[in-house]
Amino acid sequence: MASHPLIEKFQQAGQGQVFAFFDELAPEAQRHLLLEAAEIDLAEVARLTASLLAPGDAAGANLAGLAPAPYEPLPAQGGDAAAWMKAKAAGEAALRAGRVAAFTVAGGQGTRLGYDGPKGTFPVTPLKRKTLFQVFAEKIQAAGIRYGRPLHWFIMTSHQNHAATVTFFEEHRYFGLDQGRVHFFRQGRMPAVDFSGRILLETKGTIALSPDGHGGSLRALERSGALDLMQREGIDTLSYFQVDNPLVRCVDPAFIGWHVLRGSQMSSKMVPKAYPEEKLGHFCTQDGRLVVVEYSDLPMAMQRETTPEGQLRYLAGSIAIHMLDREFIRRVARGGAGIELPFHRADKKIPTVDAAGQPVKPEKANGVKFEMFVFDALPFAQNPLVIETSRADDFSPVKNAEGVDSPLTCRDDQLRQFTRWLRGQGARVEADASGRPAAGLEVSPLFGYDEDSFAEAWKKHSPPPVVSDGLYLS
Ligand code: UD1
Repeated sequence: MASHPLIEKFQQAGQGQVFAFFDELAPEAQRHLLLEAAEIDLAEVARLTASLLAPGDAAGANLAGLAPAPYEPLPAQGGDAAAWMKAKAAGEAALRAGRVAAFTVAGGQGTRLGYDGPKGTFPVTPLKRKTLFQVFAEKIQAAGIRYGRPLHWFIMTSHQNHAATVTFFEEHRYFGLDQGRVHFFRQGRMPAVDFSGRILLETKGTIALSPDGHGGSLRALERSGALDLMQREGIDTLSYFQVDNPLVRCVDPAFIGWHVLRGSQMSSKMVPKAYPEEKLGHFCTQDGRLVVVEYSDLPMAMQRETTPEGQLRYLAGSIAIHMLDREFIRRVARGGAGIELPFHRADKKIPTVDAAGQPVKPEKANGVKFEMFVFDALPFAQNPLVIETSRADDFSPVKNAEGVDSPLTCRDDQLRQFTRWLRGQGARVEADASGRPAAGLEVSPLFGYDEDSFAEAWKKHSPPPVVSDGLYLS
């Protein structure tokens, strides 16, 4: 076997199998494999193997002392209306001062949807078939115009989808945004290992590497220089959302305001879970800290627990919308001083090669991927805060090809939202009992991207638009 300091390091760490076919590879492929290997932190892999793969470890999360987390309810649910008004005004002031940027995590693999391509390029709107990226771009543009400060937008991609994502934006001329304010960066990768902790090859010359989870976004923001750029631009607050949710308010003044006024370093939005089995993380407290416990980690019996009033006890579902303080991100990204985002293990079917180098397509899980979750930063934040939001105005993700959280349910939720906005202005719109209109409608975010901006745009229209099938307000 060829000798190389990196190969020796891998051999010493018991990971020599990564180079089992090295001598068979062409020089270019050898260089490529060495580059991939250089990305791997062998000590980290050894630590994770010891802590997460130890026999009998699949036992799961630590649930000791867990209790439901408190949150600020919406005024309609008994919250303090004056405090919400104050928060909104503070958030608007922050937007006018240019203190806020938008941040989309778009590095996931989108396997459940079965869509080939970056998820942000998936078409979602009812009439115009705008893609997720276009919807966000238009909301961000419209908010920039409204507050007189164009927003910066950070987008985290993965090695796999980075080039396709950037090309997509170029082809669409950044959907009218100033290219200088749209910033792409790739998240880190982690190697997949078999159940004994040996790093898996994907082919004879490539390692099975996969994105390090959305928690990797904090490291990637620091490493890419995004935090420095924010600092230079006077941005101290990042509005975080997932690529799969077109209903999201990319920058929500009330949420920003709560976060700023409370001096919070990380804040999150919750919705009451619709039913016990709903696949949402749960906001909880543990040892006086705010934590999110994933749906897969909270025993179903606890997810079904109810209060004496008959409400779900673990009601507060995480919809993965957060507000983050810039210097807090830097602190977590750098780690140390007791701050470290844990890795979670996910058992997966990982295409690999056998001892003879022949491709293997496993039919059951043959290994483990390691991922960090962004909400694991909450316990390290000062004054963390959870506020309630209305699902109808913030959350309808596209996750599955069919059934719940699918393109169809998301389209219907958009239609219901447009209908509510129109009816709010006195327009007559025929709809079924769930609020879904009979007609096909669409409101461009450039016309109105939330109830307030919609109402303003509507009032400028004279005479008001007539609602008919195919109405597109732009
Ligand atoms: C996620 C949350 C869950 C929350 C739900 C709301 C986790 C583990 N769970 O579930 O608590 O209630 O959303 O919709 O996150 N991503 C990356 N890089 C990665 C992995 C993911 O950028 O390495 C991005 C994806 O592009 C996507 C988002 O993170 O935008 C969510 O990832 P996904 O794996 O679909 O999470 P869910 O299981 O749906």
